[in-house]
Amino acid sequence: MDIAIIGASGYAGGDLIRLLLGHSRARVSCVTSRKLAGKPVESIHPQFKGLLDLEFSNPSPKDLEADVAFLAVPHTAAMAYARPLLSRGIKVIDLSADYRLPKEIFEKVYGVPHTDYFTAPYGIPELRRDSYRDADFVSNPGCFPTGATLAAAPLARYAHTVIYDSKTGVSGAGDNPSATTHYPNVGDNVNPYKWTSHRHLAEMKQELVSLGSHAKCYFTPHLVPVNRGILTTAHILLKEPIGQEEVELLYRNYYEGEFFVRLQNPVLAAVRGTNFCDIRVESEGDRVVAVSAIDNLGKGASGQAIQNMNIICGFDERDGLTGAGLLP
Ligand SMILES: NC(=O)c1ccc[n+]([C@@H]2O[C@H](COP(=O)([O-])OP(=O)(O)OC[C@H]3O[C@@H](n4cnc5c(N)ncnc54)[C@H](OP(=O)(O)O)[C@@H]3O)[C@@H](O)[C@H]2O)c1
Repeated sequence: MDIAIIGASGYAGGDLIRLLLGHSRARVSCVTSRKLAGKPVESIHPQFKGLLDLEFSNPSPKDLEADVAFLAVPHTAAMAYARPLLSRGIKVIDLSADYRLPKEIFEKVYGVPHTDYFTAPYGIPELRRDSYRDADFVSNPGCFPTGATLAAAPLARYAHTVIYDSKTGVSGAGDNPSATTHYPNVGDNVNPYKWTSHRHLAEMKQELVSLGSHAKCYFTPHLVPVNRGILTTAHILLKEPIGQEEVELLYRNYYEGEFFVRLQNPVLAAVRGTNFCDIRVESEGDRVVAVSAIDNLGKGASGQAIQNMNIICGFDERDGLTGAGLLP
């Protein structure tokens, strides 16, 4: 399969290249960047020198040749690519937020008009892979909602309130520098941000509803001085108490056979560079604390995007995604 990565000079695009180099059925044949068109991939991603002999280009969607395209571009940019690529028979995985929410909610949350809306499957494979195996387009979930939803999903229907408290690495903000991500502001520090108003809250709420939950949902993220990773503490307040053995059994059964969800103590470095989500639960009766760890660029973005490509292309879901975490 020939793969095009739109937005390949960014962090998610770079991780798509890294993971696809280890995929048995995929060949990265087109990498786009407007600013770096004509420059070799290693001009921004030195880690690929000698591994991928390609130059960035900036083709219009109607000239782009590929079997599968990943859209690793900011929200609002993906909507210019999605339909033109689909209409030429190219399967598309969109890593942006453009197709994750209903149109009116997207426009409210992101404060911009949606210029080319269609409904698309929201691709957390562990929750609904069978509903989109035949799809040509998958909307890849946000990084925070992926880790948070996987932490709470088994208990979602039994909860009246779910509070997500997340710590994220700095690569979640993309490669565009800002005061927030400037080293002296991030290093040796922890910063809460968007305490009650992060855009990903809408996806988290949507996912609880789709799991049959009527729970209230709250979310506060914190920026911590690591490059990659999201650790989410989900406080799940239950309608009826549940014991420790029972809750562990519930999670074991729910995620039985799921290669990428591992029920073990969540440690950021153990999932770094991978598509794994590590989860542990502890009950104190009517409150269960479920903590998950993912790599924001792995299960939170590019890893899950490749998992979704594998699903809609009929490949082994694990292809390209079996590397272990970079610990230490
Ligand atoms: N970083 C994460 O942890 C993470 C997690 C989940 C989802 N995502 C989503 O994945 C997407 C990419 O994120 P990122 O962190 O990789 O961002 P990034 O590092 O800022 O990279 C963005 C890429 O898109 C290209 N680009 C920007 N504007 C464009 C436009 N209008 N048309 C075409 N290409 C454009 C950029 O290259 P040029 O400017 O040179 O064209 C660059 O290659 C975003 O939608 C983000 O929300 C990111």
